[in-house]
Amino acid sequence: MAKILVTGGAGYIGSHTVQFLLRAGHDVTVADSLVRGFAHNVPPGLLRQVDLTDTPSLIPLLDGVDAVIHFAAYIAVGESTKLPELHFWNNSAGSISLLNAMAQTGVSKIVFSSTAAVYGTVDVSPLPETLPMAPENPYGESKATVERILDWMDRCRGIRSVRLRYFNACGAEPGLGIGEEHDPETHLIPLIFRAIESGKPITVFGNDYPTLDGTCIRDYVHVSDLATAHLAALNWLSSGGATGAYNCGTGHGHSVLEVIRAVEEATGRTVPYVVGPRREGDPARLVADATRLKTQLGWTPRYTDLREIVRTAWEFEQFRLARRSA
Ligand code: UFG
Repeated sequence: MAKILVTGGAGYIGSHTVQFLLRAGHDVTVADSLVRGFAHNVPPGLLRQVDLTDTPSLIPLLDGVDAVIHFAAYIAVGESTKLPELHFWNNSAGSISLLNAMAQTGVSKIVFSSTAAVYGTVDVSPLPETLPMAPENPYGESKATVERILDWMDRCRGIRSVRLRYFNACGAEPGLGIGEEHDPETHLIPLIFRAIESGKPITVFGNDYPTLDGTCIRDYVHVSDLATAHLAALNWLSSGGATGAYNCGTGHGHSVLEVIRAVEEATGRTVPYVVGPRREGDPARLVADATRLKTQLGWTPRYTDLREIVRTAWEFEQFRLARRSA
């Protein structure tokens, strides 16, 4: 059993990881500003409401902590292009503040939420970690910056890190009442559900990409599999593993139209959609080469079927609607 501080544990991936840490018997504290996260995602008694840029408030939370899992960040790519300073402050400065507090308190292990957005648009598929980081939006830059800082923190301060580069997180762990919810919602699968519920069509952003059906291809990875990747990363660091970056995806790509079809099959409902123009900054194809995570850290994703993944998301959607009308 280890004492773990989870920043951003009231968010989507963070709250799932908290549940898996608790199941594994760890002692967990959640630090979250609740600006984008939800208190209802955190089990009672674990939540401390703090702003990560406030370094002194982090010091007591790090007392006796073995490792930090650092999720807290703003994630909307579109927002980052309009308000880059917000993303650099919250994501990059917040991380520097956290590292400052870790250095002061002698906490020397961190698992960091990075993203496929650090790669930018590359004509390679699947993407290996050996590609250079070349983000194309401030969100990706805010994460790439922290990745570089983490390398220096290891070299100069002995703080070792695992950076998990998530591809498209989706789904929900059944029966927990936690899942993907953002305000405003920008992600594909929840927006497809909204289209089913409202009857208002979702817009498919472009069907003239160089892919089989012309729509963008992404690697949709179940959030519970992302959660177990964090436990594997903790084990790696605890057993002396070196600092490194790891792609976190299934290795399989699905187009937007394939996702729509998977939702129709999983829910038995028809998805109304229209095709619109491309969304700025969307690469045609983002698929992970996750060999390094599997072979070095022993990660085995459980979910391989997109329909099954969508079914778990749909179950959470029913829960979310029931909670809203309760
Ligand atoms: N899409 C639509 N219509 C919509 C919403 C999305 O067609 O209404 C398409 C997008 O164009 C994209 C796919 O669905 O091709 C997935 O889009 P999301 O917005 O769900 O996810 P992104 O791939 O844009 O972004 C995700 C994470 C980011 C991360 C990025 C890394 O949410 O945080 O992957 O590639 F930066």
